[in-house]
Amino acid sequence: MSDSPSLARRLARLTELLARHQPLWRPEPFQHLVPPWAEAFPDLQAALLALGEERLARLQAEPFVDSPLAEWLPVAELEALCALPELAPRPEPLPEAWAQHVGGRKWRQIEAFLPRVRLAPGQAALEWCAGKGHLARTLARRHGGEVLALEWDPALCAAGEALAQAQGLAVRPVRQDVMAPEAARWLTRATHACALHACGDLHRRLLEAAATAGSAVTLAPCCYQRTAAAEYRPLSRAAGVPMAEHGLALSRDDLALAVQETVTAPRGVRRQRRRAGAWRLGFDRLQRELRGVDAYLPVPSLAYGRMPGCFAGFCRWAAAQKGLSLPAGLDWAALEAEGWRRQAEVARLEALRHLFRRPLEVWLALDRAAFLAEAGYAVELGTFCPRELTPRNLLIRGRPASC
Ligand SMILES: C[S@@+](CC[C@H](N)C(=O)[O-])C[C@H]1O[C@@H](n2cnc3c(N)ncnc32)[C@H](O)[C@@H]1O
Repeated sequence: MSDSPSLARRLARLTELLARHQPLWRPEPFQHLVPPWAEAFPDLQAALLALGEERLARLQAEPFVDSPLAEWLPVAELEALCALPELAPRPEPLPEAWAQHVGGRKWRQIEAFLPRVRLAPGQAALEWCAGKGHLARTLARRHGGEVLALEWDPALCAAGEALAQAQGLAVRPVRQDVMAPEAARWLTRATHACALHACGDLHRRLLEAAATAGSAVTLAPCCYQRTAAAEYRPLSRAAGVPMAEHGLALSRDDLALAVQETVTAPRGVRRQRRRAGAWRLGFDRLQRELRGVDAYLPVPSLAYGRMPGCFAGFCRWAAAQKGLSLPAGLDWAALEAEGWRRQAEVARLEALRHLFRRPLEVWLALDRAAFLAEAGYAVELGTFCPRELTPRNLLIRGRPASC
């Protein structure tokens, strides 16, 4: 997808649909004993709560397929607005030796990303937020020439330097905070800046600095919610104008919905997560009673290894975190059962938000693509790998008009 009128049209329509359905997708079900929209849409609530385990699992994986929500919501149109082409060219397997010192999944992402970097003659590749420079080394192997790898963590720069030296590759790790004003000096009209999974403000900064310098960009964005601004500021006029017109406002928490889909975890981890969710909801019921306040109370997250061994232990820990004292004689079994009951309910109500997950992610990517188009770039937006490899599989490719 490269023409800016179609970018603008998609953005406008997605903005309208996201704005219209904000009251449905915004509330997080675990925060409310009854969803704020339930009174207006009792049948929708009933349909969600009636979902069997199998149908729910299918909807979680494929929110647009055979959705019972189509009776209330524009499922087919949302799916069509999210349909993006796989960007050419298709990847070919790279020599196995190139994968040395790179994790398996990360390597397959790099393998998929690499051919999508269309380095023009005379362009120098640069990796933005490079970590150990795994992508930078692969770019150096494929294209020759020196590759700059910007990264602010000195330990990662040192590890990247050692790897490049050991493999005899022309990668120059540069210790650089990309948010600092002087980071822009690394970008010129002859630069092709690449970023694989640079988070929120980091990739925003790349787009703004690249557009100022006229650098080419190949970017797979990630973690839109990692941003200093509490309220989302659109990058493009194509997003900003319909946002104002339809009253779409996005908080940092809203942005997190766009990246909620993760690679399916192993069964054991999923079981642990379900249990942790049920215990949190059991504690939620308890804390509402103890405080006499019918409102959700955030409890810090806890690494899985540090999770207490039983529900009562968890509640004691959570109560201590929030300065609550627990009375004697609590019916732990009943509270835990209530947690599991709510956990099943919340999972079903979440299916409504899942429907808007990809539309929001595509909307955010469209805003970035439209920003480059408005800066005079030829822009493509598509996917670079299957979702199973990473759900953050959107790629923005921008080339200044004169290149
Ligand atoms: C999500 S990782 C991506 C790393 C690599 N591109 C990859 O795909 O493995 C983000 C990287 O950005 C680096 N980073 C975070 N903030 C930064 C900043 N302000 N300036 C430069 N690098 C930063 C982190 O240290 C980390 O290595």
